[in-house]
Amino acid sequence: MRELQKSLKTICVLTILAVSFTAIAEEAAGPSLFDRMGGAEIAHKVVADAWENHITNPIIKDRFVNSDPAYFKAKVYEIFAASTGGDVKYTGKDMKSTHAGMNINEMEFNAVIDDVLAALDKNGIAQQERNEVLAILWSVRGDVVNPHLITKHLKK
Ligand code: HEM
Repeated sequence: MRELQKSLKTICVLTILAVSFTAIAEEAAGPSLFDRMGGAEIAHKVVADAWENHITNPIIKDRFVNSDPAYFKAKVYEIFAASTGGDVKYTGKDMKSTHAGMNINEMEFNAVIDDVLAALDKNGIAQQERNEVLAILWSVRGDVVNPHLITKHLKK
């Protein structure tokens, strides 16, 4: 009986410690990038502005002539929100199969990044958050750009 009481006590102490550490860890992590940028309202504006930039950017505008703007913006909003910590699920196609066969080159990839950064800037998003978004965009470069069109030493 005494052994059982001792075990229960140990379990209780461990549970309390685990719960406390989780709370501390969550507090230390702070608000998500999505929240620091202003949440859903700003994110929708960023996506709309990025779209306007794409369709007027001479480097890439021809890529989007057959696109459905509402569908594109909805999917880009989802991926933008989901990848910055927003409580949103991405329901679109994966980046590799979406862009496979498009033969996207580095200049086009950089043009998309420039358009997104300009949209963030327009909506008053600070340098720190812009840098974090840039890192996320850069992380999908290998799935978007045709590897034969990537700077040789970075080829997969
Ligand atoms: C970080 C870079 C990029 C991200 C995160 C991204 C994201 C997306 C997403 C979420 C979609 C919709 C997927 C779906 O149909 O379910 C999409 C489609 C598309 N993307 Fe990208 N993309 C990127 C770069 C590029 C680049 C560099 C180009 C070429 C200029 C490009 C051209 C397109 C086109 C033409 C579509 C199809 C639009 C349509 O269905 O009409 N993307 N992209």
